[in-house]
Amino acid sequence: MSRHFLNLADAGGDALAAMLNDALERKEARKTWPKGKVDPDTPLSDHVLAMIFEKSSTRTRVSFDIAIRQLGGTSLVMDSGSMQLGRGESIADTAKVLSRMCDAIMIRTDDHAKIEDLAANASVPVINGLTDLSHPCQIVADLLTLIEHGKSLPGLEIAWLGDSNNVLNSIVEAAGLMKLNVRIGSPEGYDPDQRFISQAQAEGANITLYRNAMEAAAGADVIVADTWMSMGQAHADEKIDAMMPFQVNDVIMEQAKPDAVFLHCLPAHRGEEVMPSVIDGPQSLVWDEAENRIHAQKSVLRWAFGQI
Ligand code: CP
Ligand code: NVA
Repeated sequence: MSRHFLNLADAGGDALAAMLNDALERKEARKTWPKGKVDPDTPLSDHVLAMIFEKSSTRTRVSFDIAIRQLGGTSLVMDSGSMQLGRGESIADTAKVLSRMCDAIMIRTDDHAKIEDLAANASVPVINGLTDLSHPCQIVADLLTLIEHGKSLPGLEIAWLGDSNNVLNSIVEAAGLMKLNVRIGSPEGYDPDQRFISQAQAEGANITLYRNAMEAAAGADVIVADTWMSMGQAHADEKIDAMMPFQVNDVIMEQAKPDAVFLHCLPAHRGEEVMPSVIDGPQSLVWDEAENRIHAQKSVLRWAFGQI
């Protein structure tokens, strides 16, 4: 079986819950092993994952590489600039060729229409390693991190502060699937994508937009931040000025529940979207969150091959 994972909805809530359970179990089973040791059941032995990067990456690149190896497979990592894709070969032709040579394709790109084109022309699973629209693999890792730290997902109050971007879209999508509530604190002019919000609300999630960071953070179980300038966006002083009241600092953390945790997909910009006292402080889970990219991506891969 071959399934594309372009957004969390491609899997749905039940499969997402199953992926999270699988990730928890596989992580627990190998906690004392070296990172390079292959899981004994080698569920994706002999499988080759092709990865295409049209943007920079540390966590996505390394986690998928380690993930496929731990599952018994191998990987091929390519920057689009060194591929014929970077010289104008079509996405459709690239998809057809890679489908003959590899067993799955993970791509990080800009326009989401490109990954849809790739998926439409591929006969192997296509996985979204981030587009301008969404970052579903990140959110599987985020949910895994929250569960690991004792947070029960239904009804969880997640406060997102700052820019309304690809990571937020996937959090909102997860809210609909897992019945989370999202409190978005974002300045005027940087409003979240209404399509994701309407879908999540239709599925029963509370998604609320605040223009005041303190109100957004009030009583939250989780505070989440991300860069104010996503890859591909030009630096703009006026955006920094607009975002500054939504910086996650100690005063913001004090508005949340006493046992609230802080998440950030990384890379972080200390002094912009988050202060060092928060991201490097006791409520921050960012290193577990980063490590969990491996465990989450293994479950995404297994789901894409119909093993979950
Ligand atoms: N969080 C994340 O996707 O990190 P990279 O950009 O390093 O892959
Ligand atoms: N929103 C960020 C996430 C990076 C992992 C970006 O798109 O650059």
